[in-house]
Amino acid sequence: MPNAPQSAVEPTPFHHPVLQEEVRELFAGCRAKRVVVDGTVGLGGHSAQLLADAGPQLELLVALDRDPEALAMARARLSDPGGAAVLYHHASFAEIPRLLREEEIPAASFILLDLGVSTFQLKTPRRGFSFASDGPLDMRMDPTGGSSARELLERSSVAQLEGWLRDFGEVRHAGRIARALYERRSSLRTTSALSAAVLEALRIRRPPPGEIHPATQVFQALRIAVNRELETLEAALPALIEALEPGGRLAVISFHSLEDRRVKQAFDRASRDCVCPPKMPACGCGHRASVQLLFRGARQPGETEIAENPPSRSARLRAVEKLPNS
Ligand SMILES: C[S@@+](CC[C@H](N)C(=O)[O-])C[C@H]1O[C@@H](n2cnc3c(N)ncnc32)[C@H](O)[C@@H]1O
Repeated sequence: MPNAPQSAVEPTPFHHPVLQEEVRELFAGCRAKRVVVDGTVGLGGHSAQLLADAGPQLELLVALDRDPEALAMARARLSDPGGAAVLYHHASFAEIPRLLREEEIPAASFILLDLGVSTFQLKTPRRGFSFASDGPLDMRMDPTGGSSARELLERSSVAQLEGWLRDFGEVRHAGRIARALYERRSSLRTTSALSAAVLEALRIRRPPPGEIHPATQVFQALRIAVNRELETLEAALPALIEALEPGGRLAVISFHSLEDRRVKQAFDRASRDCVCPPKMPACGCGHRASVQLLFRGARQPGETEIAENPPSRSARLRAVEKLPNS
């Protein structure tokens, strides 16, 4: 980034924030920096950097996460926010507009969503997100409510399972794996039982060396279903755009094409003056653009970032800026 000061913030051993320089650049270009909302504060890496960069203009950081454990870690990390106030909310980013209204905050200058799960969640076996080490089959970002992966598996039909595997994991042999999981559903209590069931369904004893483990996409699909990730994102994006002040910016980092496609579609729609189907002879929708895209396409990590933090490889960043009169 050309004129940005050097990062003053150390990454934690638990999570390396991705595309941090790109996020800093977007924040630096915000017209105002009064109210920053980190909708997925996680371990607080991005927020710590935004606090360090913001300077005296920043009045308030609103930090949210669905995961109370992550929120507590962010709170400890961001214990010295300079002159800014920090409000922590154990909540989904879908609740940002309501929270801003309740706090009587008219609009946000910058909203960041860094989607998916953190390295801390993935690497904590008791959270049940990964088959790399054994743990209960949970996968809830918010373990205080909702159904765990095990409960979801227990009450789902084969058709539902197959749909999730196909739509949320683009899993090959989704039908065969769904039937196997359905038949074994009462014994699928741990992450290793689930990954063993996937291998068994595919009649593989161990994953071929150098190939991605066949359970990877199955875990992704179930995690998305457990946390209703795509519905939440799709419903939240228009409301988050609405919550920006004129000149305010919304930046979203996604980690797979299912998320990125939804972000792209929501941003494209919000940046167009007409959203009528292409064959309409004249515009009848009355839709008016409320944002401009800050760049075409998605930004991706460079070679250096990928070498330092290989999981950043799949990250994609998109951003919009609210138009002056909307
Ligand atoms: C990739 S991590 C964020 C890391 C963070 N930016 C950092 O620098 O430490 C994603 C976080 O988003 C949270 N999360 C995912 N979906 C959420 C939602 N709908 N609302 C609030 N938090 C969510 C997860 O619990 C996780 O802590």
